[in-house]
Amino acid sequence: MLLKTVLLLALVSQVLVLENGLLRKPPMGWLAWERFRCNTDCNEDPKNCISERLFMEMADRLAQDGWRDLGYEYLNIDDCWIGGRDAKGNLVPDPKRFPNGMAFLADYAHSLGLKLGIYADMGNFTCMGYPGTTLDKVVQDAQTFAKWKVDMLKLDGCFSTPEERAEGYPKMAAALNATGRPIAFSCSWPAYEGGLPPEVNYTLLADICNLWRNYDDIEDSWSSVLSILDWFVTHQDILQPVAGPGHWNDPDMLLIGNFGLSFEQARAQMALWTVLAAPLFMSTDLRTISAQNMDILQNPLMIKINQDPLGIQGHRILKEKSHIEVYVRPLASEASAIVFFSRRTDMPYPYRTSLARLNFTSSKVYEEWSSDLLSGSPMNYVIDFPARRRPYRLTLPGSDLGSFGSPIKLFFSQVVVIWTWGQGLIRWGLWVALHKVLVSDFTSHGRCMASSGSSFHRDLQTILLAMPGLPPAPVIPAVPSIMVVVTAQ
Ligand code: GLA
Repeated sequence: MLLKTVLLLALVSQVLVLENGLLRKPPMGWLAWERFRCNTDCNEDPKNCISERLFMEMADRLAQDGWRDLGYEYLNIDDCWIGGRDAKGNLVPDPKRFPNGMAFLADYAHSLGLKLGIYADMGNFTCMGYPGTTLDKVVQDAQTFAKWKVDMLKLDGCFSTPEERAEGYPKMAAALNATGRPIAFSCSWPAYEGGLPPEVNYTLLADICNLWRNYDDIEDSWSSVLSILDWFVTHQDILQPVAGPGHWNDPDMLLIGNFGLSFEQARAQMALWTVLAAPLFMSTDLRTISAQNMDILQNPLMIKINQDPLGIQGHRILKEKSHIEVYVRPLASEASAIVFFSRRTDMPYPYRTSLARLNFTSSKVYEEWSSDLLSGSPMNYVIDFPARRRPYRLTLPGSDLGSFGSPIKLFFSQVVVIWTWGQGLIRWGLWVALHKVLVSDFTSHGRCMASSGSSFHRDLQTILLAMPGLPPAPVIPAVPSIMVVVTAQ
């Protein structure tokens, strides 16, 4: 009896919990689908078709252009790679497009310090009609992926019934576990059930999946980004609590670098996905991406916030009649990221607020961050500093503030606020600055950094200048736009 119970418990825990310890932070990487879709025409379009070549070239870029070192480590295949099943029922890749097989591609990725993700579908066919993983094939396919040394599986849900999915996703989690290889598990399951309880059991999902698509596919347009954002915000009370280290909501890929977003929209998607603790899967051509888009995707502050160890998903705290929205994500070291998001479509808009109004009551403030990278330029922002009880106009540093670590001359009545992220300490330059002391005097306390020109902070120590009492109205970003402020609680 006891043995039976133990065996049963072991079985239940194996079935219900994906114990891979992976993705304590939202995954970052590159995913083929949004940009390269199901282009299988390697004769006409050899450079862009879904093939070994495409993935190897992206792997090279990830490794050589700084992506991997910033955390973009997953190289993920999506639909349209499957050639069929062999005589034993094993999945095989299309032999023309993947002549060396998937184990070869995994080895190649690993040799560059990357991880390989693959795609399958819990159902009769993949969404594009390639062979699916039916219930009887779940274990076999998991073993195949492990044999190839795959590191992540996206399991789609086309061509199946709700009952098959309810059985198949937990079964795949158990099968992946049983391979002994740590394979991150990305489940599209909730997206097929409408994304909400009671059809979706997020408690169960958090146990068996490392991330999950909740909602519609992203398309290369701003309206698509907004529709996804709106859905996530509408249901944030349900979705926000279910995300955390090892299990993430996935609003789908980043479009940055493609054709549908303006510069400001691209920055907005990056900041919103960051504050939502979303997986950061780029889907763009890394061989031809512009420096400007690369800068957005490689913004170290965005990445640092996205990868914050607490793993708390941010949420919208304020929706103004003026179409300015405020999002907050609590971070480690008692910091918070605040995103000001303008949905206006007319012109830059003067927006007044204060930390107090946003419920940041402590006087132990402030890092303010924003830069010409993620916000319109020039950016001004009025905030009531509780300690001073009067508003200041914060202005982003211009291009001549010097570079990292170098002394910066301050003028009378300017205020510098510095937040040293790493040590979790606020360093006050306020009084120093008011007394016309050079910043170099307090760089000895902690390194200072100012943005220089259009390049932006390469670290989190940031300077903003605040000019007390200056009359001009503050302006919140040109539309649509983003400003990010990091503050201590
Ligand atoms: C579904 C998924 C997409 C993509 C396609 C591939 O639509 O949601 O992310 O994987 O299938 O066919």
